Amino acid sequence: MKRKVFFTRRIPEIGIKMLQKKYEVEVFPGPGNVDRDTLVQKIQGCDAIVTLLSDKIDEELLQKAANLKIIANYAVGYNNIDIHAAMQHKIMVTNTPGVLTNATGEIAFALMITLTRRIIEADRFTRNGEFIGWDPLLFLGDELKGKTVGILGMGRIGQDMASKCKAFGMRVIYHSRKPVSGEIEQKLDAVYCSLDQLLSQSDVISVHTPLNDKTYHLLGRESFCKMKNGVYLVNTSRGEVIDEGVLVEHLKSGKVKGAGLDVYEYEPEITRELFSLSNVVLLPHIGSATIETRNKMSEMVARNVIAGLEGERPENLVPEMSDLF
Ligand code: GLV
Ligand code: GLV
Repeated sequence: MKRKVFFTRRIPEIGIKMLQKKYEVEVFPGPGNVDRDTLVQKIQGCDAIVTLLSDKIDEELLQKAANLKIIANYAVGYNNIDIHAAMQHKIMVTNTPGVLTNATGEIAFALMITLTRRIIEADRFTRNGEFIGWDPLLFLGDELKGKTVGILGMGRIGQDMASKCKAFGMRVIYHSRKPVSGEIEQKLDAVYCSLDQLLSQSDVISVHTPLNDKTYHLLGRESFCKMKNGVYLVNTSRGEVIDEGVLVEHLKSGKVKGAGLDVYEYEPEITRELFSLSNVVLLPHIGSATIETRNKMSEMVARNVIAGLEGERPENLVPEMSDLF
């Protein structure tokens, strides 16, 4: 009997086709995300499941997964999956690192320069017919060159953002669980510092940490107090790293001059007050959304599923599981 693979949502077809050659593949037809009841029913019968970052895969669900060998998450972040429970049930979990690094770095950079040069506000103004002639004081922003960017989380994406910032003449400081190698620091001209130093010295803070117990609300009330007046904040990692309510307060007071957000604490819900602030740019979680990257992610999940089902070690097994399989 052919083994069964369930996709919780349609992804670019390249990976789906790879799997259709070998397995019985079912794709949740939508509209929208798979509902819990369907997920419970499907996970009971399938050998592999391809999940999105919005699918919560918890202990209750994993208990029912009698044949499940592998969960291939179509994302680099995998905080949506209870890794501990998956390990207990001996179910492999994979993610899609590396292939979305540049795409996400580009979005982080785009958010930064969109804020500092007030691109969205200026576009709105122009569309509204308010441009009546060149004005010496119109939409003055801040220049990036010579400013300090603080990279919070120096994994692949943080490093990519750092290299883009360096190319624009910014000074790069970073804080991470541990410092990167001297070689990488040298290449990026990046200086390791404590969280407090990063908060107090950065003109722009860009968040690139994974979400876990240590990074939840890492930027909360205490951290905001330590930031420079007029700091810009960019988040392309996970919304829960920032206390969104506290961010709103500091945007209103002007302490935070602007925020560029691709992710939200209560995603897909967004704190309503953000909609009425002109100094924010709000994106619908599109960090990895390029054709190139999404195709590569699709191939990657397919290769991981094949390895997992054919008794090999998937290339992108999450690091927590490296001793288990
Ligand atoms: C997107 O947020 C991802 O984790 O891939
Ligand atoms: C993602 O690929 C990261 O490690 O930052």
